[in-house]
Amino acid sequence: MAKSKSTVFFCRECGYESAKWMGQCPACKEWNTFAEEPAAVKTAFGGLTGGKPSGKTLKPVTLSKVEMSSQQRFSSGIGELDRVLGGGMIPGSLILVGGDPGIGKSTLLLQVCRNVAAENKKVLYISGEESLQQIKIRAQRIGNFSESLMLLCETNLNDIAEVLKRDKPEMAVIDSVQTMYSEDVSSALGSVSQVRQATNLFLQLAKTLGITIFLVGHVTKEGVVAGPRVLEHMVDTVLYFEGDRYAAYRILRGVKNRFGSTNEIGVFEMRKDGLTEVPNPSEYMLNGKPEGASGSVVACSMEGTRPILVEIQALVCKTGFGLPRRTAAGADLNRVNLLMAVLEKRAGISLSSCDAYINIAGGIRMNEPAIDLGIVLAVVSSYKEIPIHDKTICFGEIGLSGEVRAVSMAAQRVQEARKLGFERCILPKVCVSEHLKCDGMEIVGVSNVREAIACMR
Ligand code: TYD
Ligand code: MG
Repeated sequence: MAKSKSTVFFCRECGYESAKWMGQCPACKEWNTFAEEPAAVKTAFGGLTGGKPSGKTLKPVTLSKVEMSSQQRFSSGIGELDRVLGGGMIPGSLILVGGDPGIGKSTLLLQVCRNVAAENKKVLYISGEESLQQIKIRAQRIGNFSESLMLLCETNLNDIAEVLKRDKPEMAVIDSVQTMYSEDVSSALGSVSQVRQATNLFLQLAKTLGITIFLVGHVTKEGVVAGPRVLEHMVDTVLYFEGDRYAAYRILRGVKNRFGSTNEIGVFEMRKDGLTEVPNPSEYMLNGKPEGASGSVVACSMEGTRPILVEIQALVCKTGFGLPRRTAAGADLNRVNLLMAVLEKRAGISLSSCDAYINIAGGIRMNEPAIDLGIVLAVVSSYKEIPIHDKTICFGEIGLSGEVRAVSMAAQRVQEARKLGFERCILPKVCVSEHLKCDGMEIVGVSNVREAIACMR
């Protein structure tokens, strides 16, 4: 008779569960990520017929009978974070903040704690990574703190749950979820089971006590500790902090949000005294743009409801080897290759013997197809060594037959460009309409790449 299995294998990256070890995860296709862990205790509700009900009388209700709680969203005191959250924090929600080590997660959350505590709300900051002294050193850089912020250094889940139940703060921060452990789970600290157990517990506490809980999660590429990706489906909101290690700015991106849109971003700058909001990211991104240089063009991308202008740089030169080398920093390399093929075939520019390096200045990542036209014009500008005028901006998606396709929210993009002093806008012809007009802006509609190249100057 087969022995009942007491251990299962989990993928450290995505949490896929399997009865046996596998080299590659069938779900996320990562290699060598399976770890053996004790199986979760099966409840009696295994099959359809199994298990006894708990004895409670449950009554489903109609939608109109559901009472809305009077509690409203409350502000984190940081406009950019509120925007990403969809207009503030909801009591009882569980928010996961992920990101590389050192990106500024603890700093951001300590600043949120400070702002919320200043409103006389009870706030608890629980750290499993740093001592009280270390937190104090960081806090001194950030500013003055109100007395309603309480700190705790603890990693034992059950003890933390006791404190939360007893003190009932309005907001709590867990820094980080990977350092929390429960004695009920026998696997190692930071393993998938431990992190899941912790998240489950905080989810219950958040929902039953109405505490807004922030969880900090580390992402490690090697998957040494359980990536927070396994938790994404458990929490209400997932925010990712990204940015260049060497650049001062940081971008907070919503990946999942049960209470708002997910395509908003928040832009911050890391200063000596903590993270400060960048109210006008376009201006910030265009800082230091060279004047009169070939291969540099400004494009406009929408991030959520906000247009952001970025400088796209291209360097095209003769290849030294048989195979041309292409790289793309900030843009999708496949997309760049596709656009270069379109240029070759539809605009008659022979790029097959050219290396091409594309860079979006400032280290920001952009995936919107509307920057296609910018990439194309930057490549042509560098290839022909014709600088594009500094006051020209462009946007538009490019199709495989070389057509310039419509993009959404053209008017907002034009207005943002005008606000920053641009005077000429190259955009898809189908987007040109009366209400795009604004003073001092020349609107140039183009329908294919040839036309776009012709009016490039
Ligand atoms: P931290 O919040 O500790 O990162 P995480 O919790 O995501 O690991 O941020 C650490 C970095 O931020 C560190 O390199 C120092 C820098 N920093 C500043 O530049 N200014 C500041 O005011 C603070 C508090 C940190
Ligand atoms: Mg930290």
